[in-house]
Amino acid sequence: MKAAVLNAFGSPLDIQTLPDPLPGAGSVIVDIVAAGVTSYAANVFNGSRNYQLDPPVAPGAGGIGRVRATGPDSTRLRLGEWVYCEPTIRSRDALTDPDTILQGWTYRTPAARPLHAFYHHGSFAEQMLLPTENATPLGDIRPDEAGRWTALGRLLVPYGGLLAGDLQAGETVVVSGASGGFGGAGVAVALAMGAGRVVATGRNLAALEDIAARLGPRVRPVRMAGDEAADRARIVEAADGPVDMVLDFLPREASASQVMAAATAVRHGGRIVLMGGLRGAAGDLPLNYNWLMHNDVTVRGKWMYERDAIPRMIRLIRAGLVDLGQFEMAEFPLDEANAAVAHAAANAGPRQLTVLRPDR
Ligand SMILES: NC(=O)c1ccc[n+]([C@@H]2O[C@H](COP(=O)([O-])OP(=O)(O)OC[C@H]3O[C@@H](n4cnc5c(N)ncnc54)[C@H](OP(=O)(O)O)[C@@H]3O)[C@@H](O)[C@H]2O)c1
Repeated sequence: MKAAVLNAFGSPLDIQTLPDPLPGAGSVIVDIVAAGVTSYAANVFNGSRNYQLDPPVAPGAGGIGRVRATGPDSTRLRLGEWVYCEPTIRSRDALTDPDTILQGWTYRTPAARPLHAFYHHGSFAEQMLLPTENATPLGDIRPDEAGRWTALGRLLVPYGGLLAGDLQAGETVVVSGASGGFGGAGVAVALAMGAGRVVATGRNLAALEDIAARLGPRVRPVRMAGDEAADRARIVEAADGPVDMVLDFLPREASASQVMAAATAVRHGGRIVLMGGLRGAAGDLPLNYNWLMHNDVTVRGKWMYERDAIPRMIRLIRAGLVDLGQFEMAEFPLDEANAAVAHAAANAGPRQLTVLRPDR
């Protein structure tokens, strides 16, 4: 199979021929038709993100394709069927505390390395071997729609956080970092789940207003100016009622104060879900014990999403509650993988999708 291979951190992707993957028990092989390219892929490949990935490897986290071969223990998947290839792989021998990888992207901890060694290559390739349970049927789609369906990889992440926070129809949720790739998707998904109001916060008001103009009056853009108390007051004013939940997607460059401006706006019984990238000292949030306790506030982190979120999100899209037409898409053939990575970096944002097409 043809693949875009990372031979070493800092090297450009190299188009090579790799051995075709072989089907076996517990796994399927998918012909990859479309693979999403994240805005930070260049930083993964140059090593600056310090992702655990053992080159040489065909990278690529997740994709859309058609089932090429199934293992002998597969009961439902049909050959040729369109599927979403889920990159999160959890070890099968540690159900309560699984080791996890993002296939073709990072194995996170040394304990998860055997998963990376076996399910080594990702979706920047013509074929991909993945665990049977990681292939979720999409229903019929046209080949030219495959690129748009890679948006699943973007939409599922905030969906995981909104489900973890138990967002209910009619509630008000604050999305921090709403002009970013995952935060912007979080606004759209919260609306699809029935949020009564989504307070979309960020520093770039024009980007937030663009989201509101596209997604409608339930979205309230609020500019964060960097003064925690004043920012919180603007969030509360825009919410115009209790804030039920905060979904935080602030990146590693942000500060604890930016997180706190929204987090401390929640009502009695409110939920704060942390999904962003703060680390080191910036990640030490000054959450007051007494305030948390007296206000019944729940704080939780969430990494990715549970597996049942995938068919549920597909149903939200099929029902027309999430419109894949909201994304501006740029597609590149596999031979132009490096151009795709550069394009994704230069076109980060809530509407932008960069897609690699291994079928072209
Ligand atoms: N938990 C998970 O499973 C999971 C999965 C994927 C990604 N993530 C994490 O989620 C975070 C967001 O990812 P993303 O791809 O959506 O990022 P992104 O596109 O760069 O968006 C981040 C947004 O944060 C805002 N921001 C606020 N303060 C900032 C600052 N000091 N510097 C830069 N931007 C700032 C920016 O909007 P303004 O300029 O308008 O403020 C920007 O649009 C990352 O840290 C990523 O690692 C988590």
